[in-house]
Amino acid sequence: MERKSTADFGMSFLLACMLVFVLAASAATDNITPSRSIIDGETLVSSDETFELGFFSPGSSIKRYIGIWYKVSPETVVWVANREAPLLDRFGVLNVTKEGTINLLHKKTEMVWSSSRIRTAKNPVMQLLDSGNLVVKDGNESDSANFLWQSFDYPCDTLLPMMKLGKNFITGMNWSLTSWKSPDDPAPGRFTALIDPEGFPQLVVRNGSEIFYRGGSWNGERFTGTPDLKQIELSNLFKFEFELNRNEVYYKGEPYPALISRLAVNESGFLERFVRTKQSESWLEIYFAPRDECDYYAVCGAYSSCNTNNSPRLCTCMDGFEPMFPTEWDRLKWSGGCTRMTTLACRNSVFTKYNGLKFPDTSNSSFYTNMSLKECQAECSKNCSCMAYANSDIRNGGSGCLLWFGDLIDMRIYIDGGQDLYVRMANSTLGHLVVRKNSSEIKEVAIVVIPIILIGLVWGGIVFYLRRKKLAKRVGGKDEMELPVFDLDIIVKATDNFLDNNKLGQGGFGPVYKGRLPEGQEIAVKRLSKSSGQGSEEFKNEVVLIAKLQHRNLVRLLGCSVQGDEKMLIYEYMPNKSLDYFIFDQAKGKLLDWRRRMHIIDGIARGLLYLHQDSRLRIIHRDLKASNVLLDNDMCPKISDFGLARTIWGDQTEANTNKVVGTYGYMPPEYAVDGLFSIKSDVFSFGVLVLEIISGKKNRGFFHPDHSHNLVGHAWKLWMELKPLQFVDCNLEDCFVVSEVLRCIHVGLLCVQKRPEDRPNMSSVVLMLGSENPLPEPKLPGFFTERNLPESESYSSTHHELASENGVTISVLEAR
Ligand SMILES: *[C@@H]1O[C@H](CO)[C@@H](O)[C@H](O)[C@H]1NC(C)=O
Ligand SMILES: *[C@@H]1O[C@H](CO)[C@@H](O)[C@H](O)[C@H]1NC(C)=O
Ligand SMILES: *[C@@H]1O[C@H](CO)[C@@H](O)[C@H](O)[C@H]1NC(C)=O
Ligand SMILES: *[C@@H]1O[C@H](CO)[C@@H](O)[C@H](O)[C@H]1NC(C)=O
Ligand SMILES: *[C@@H]1O[C@H](CO)[C@@H](O)[C@H](O)[C@H]1NC(C)=O
Ligand SMILES: *[C@@H]1O[C@H](CO)[C@@H](O)[C@H](O)[C@H]1NC(C)=O
Ligand SMILES: *[C@@H]1O[C@H](CO)[C@@H](O)[C@H](O)[C@H]1NC(C)=O
Ligand SMILES: *[C@@H]1O[C@H](CO)[C@@H](O)[C@H](O)[C@H]1NC(C)=O
Ligand SMILES: *[C@@H]1O[C@H](CO)[C@@H](O)[C@H](O)[C@H]1NC(C)=O
Repeated sequence: MERKSTADFGMSFLLACMLVFVLAASAATDNITPSRSIIDGETLVSSDETFELGFFSPGSSIKRYIGIWYKVSPETVVWVANREAPLLDRFGVLNVTKEGTINLLHKKTEMVWSSSRIRTAKNPVMQLLDSGNLVVKDGNESDSANFLWQSFDYPCDTLLPMMKLGKNFITGMNWSLTSWKSPDDPAPGRFTALIDPEGFPQLVVRNGSEIFYRGGSWNGERFTGTPDLKQIELSNLFKFEFELNRNEVYYKGEPYPALISRLAVNESGFLERFVRTKQSESWLEIYFAPRDECDYYAVCGAYSSCNTNNSPRLCTCMDGFEPMFPTEWDRLKWSGGCTRMTTLACRNSVFTKYNGLKFPDTSNSSFYTNMSLKECQAECSKNCSCMAYANSDIRNGGSGCLLWFGDLIDMRIYIDGGQDLYVRMANSTLGHLVVRKNSSEIKEVAIVVIPIILIGLVWGGIVFYLRRKKLAKRVGGKDEMELPVFDLDIIVKATDNFLDNNKLGQGGFGPVYKGRLPEGQEIAVKRLSKSSGQGSEEFKNEVVLIAKLQHRNLVRLLGCSVQGDEKMLIYEYMPNKSLDYFIFDQAKGKLLDWRRRMHIIDGIARGLLYLHQDSRLRIIHRDLKASNVLLDNDMCPKISDFGLARTIWGDQTEANTNKVVGTYGYMPPEYAVDGLFSIKSDVFSFGVLVLEIISGKKNRGFFHPDHSHNLVGHAWKLWMELKPLQFVDCNLEDCFVVSEVLRCIHVGLLCVQKRPEDRPNMSSVVLMLGSENPLPEPKLPGFFTERNLPESESYSSTHHELASENGVTISVLEAR
């Protein structure tokens, strides 16, 4: 649509608003020529509708900037033109001149920002490409090398696929990422991510002029300090390219058709990679760095390597070295680093091999891509200031030569994905020492594997979305997000007016009835206690959100019914009842062999992981227990009652609450005593549940003639006495895989540790259950002795619901 240029901008705000309205309604375009301009309220949209360009206000600021964002996620701004020159009103105009310069003007006169230009164009066109690149080109030119200007040459804080991070040695052009100052201010902040071309090029994040984090040098497959990137790449979702030649050095990601991906440096200096699909509801963070204490630059000083496994004693001198300042070192201050025990006599030195390392800082190194390792050693031997050498490229068994001059700084040990380094040592004291590869480290494994799992989740999400879409169509093209609200009459009929015979049980928030809809579908109806504080609209909104959580290990919410005070939730009906019905029963327990139990433990873990990780809601269950795990026809576990705390009291994320909901025996100490809850409270309940599934006994009310511990304490005692197999349910009659049972007990004990920060999160739990890597030793569990439990004297119960089958559910308790 062509806009007449007669309208005067400054003249009437109303007119401007009308224009905005009219223009916003017009079809989106991805380019403008000098005859057009963009005013506040108008946007350009890339032809595939991925990116949008226009005016925006970041965070809670009211200042106006020109930026590029994702159309599906307008709050995610990937590029800002006038980072340091905001407009203070809405009278900005963006246009492209006849020569090919982009101008941002205030009230058509005052220049606010403009792009540079290397030559003059005949027919300049400013276009927003599908890659997110804003370009000025001449006519129908499509070769990026001939663009007059492109935003990809001026990155802000975000690296999009096809964007380069690096430097052109010929033109001096460099591409780096600079953090925003704050979420409200896109002006350049403290942190810059760049490929430092000094010595052998390496990825660093600088805080001002200091290095904050060093991803390290490229080893042919990835940066030496990012062993997990290899895995992401291997999953085929991301392809990276690293180019180093006489003309330029750069790192570049390639686009993957179905996935939107971005790498950004945030205001605290962290590199973060996020992915999503156009259908996803939110971004998924699949990678960030610095990742742990050992990732901060040079924590251990020189000639010392960092290992998170030894926490809190993170740093260890290399063999043949000793702390420079031993007293400081003992006080866990390592920055002084280590020094040689024997002075190096250059003539008489040997090289010691260390493996599993993140290579030291390469800013004072040289490299020869044509040399073999042997030639490399010879080269290093020649020069007394050469302290170490290594292959520069690990592909095909290793090639190239990298030589370090000066101190070796910022090394760490990886269990998987580290590299070999040969360090110059005095001949006199040492032979060829080899630092043994470090034993396992859960965290590290998790780092490697979690991205893969997350990618799996993304894919799961996509597949699920497609499937659900199909399903919705079949059902009649109804809006898939709409939640059926059932008529109370229908529910009354379905349950024979809540006949006692139809009562399935008494859950934490009210009784549950079996019912049958007129079409024959069986349902379970949860009749919520009337005391719940929410209004019906709030309640419905909450239910719609909860209903969106769908996972094979969660009970499906079919709808709700609201009439006055009466609020009900309608679930799919599970014929096989709940887990407690089986595991705590001598006869029925036999139906659950070890294979099934393992499968159930795994399923519960996955369901819980899904609840915790759905970043939109981040549901904390708060009342996970055996009676809340239902079993379907295939004995596949499904968690029920999730999100109820939310439905009833509204949104409360990790916080201190004065309403405690939960069940004694499953509650962690920090929650029962201080009302502090977090995802780690659920992890505790999960641990208790695992121990119950293995032993076939209830935690609460557990009795042993020899001691007064509860089940958790009993498990701990047997574990400490190295008799863990005595803990196993005698119903299993030795028909189990010992290693699996031990692993499950081990994981269970890790989950019930007293300190929430010691407990693993659910993603680690899922990994631990599925792998054979060694696990850390569990520490003392919480509520080890049942008698410690602060019962009613600590709480005054203002509202107490009925007892459920396997324990008292405390639904509302006011804290002291
Ligand atoms: C774009 O800005 C330039 C510089 O002020 C101005 O001369 C030109 O008329 C503007 N073009 C349009 C179409 O507004
Ligand atoms: C660009 O357009 C001109 C004429 O309009 C045509 O001759 C030329 O082939 C086009 N170039 C491309 C790359 O399409
Ligand atoms: C990067 O390039 C800009 C100009 O393009 C220059 O001012 C800056 O100093 C360069 N930075 C480095 C690290 O070369
Ligand atoms: C960044 O540098 C400043 C000044 O040197 C310092 O105060 C700040 O703690 C540093 N931030 C981080 C995250 O290292
Ligand atoms: C930066 O990223 C890290 C790692 O993802 C995160 O913990 C931190 O909260 C982020 N900081 C900001 C200011 O977003
Ligand atoms: C190391 O010392 C031994 C004897 O002390 C000598 O035989 C050997 O040649 C020396 N090696 C090097 C590389 O200097
Ligand atoms: C590199 O050499 C310079 C000059 O000798 C020195 O200041 C700097 O600390 C060295 N860097 C490293 C990482 O060894
Ligand atoms: C490696 O290349 C350098 C120059 O690029 C050359 O001087 C050297 O002789 C080469 N070395 C080998 C072993 O080919
Ligand atoms: C050793 O290497 C350093 C750094 O590359 C260089 O400055 C010095 O000249 C070299 N010394 C000899 C003897 O080659």
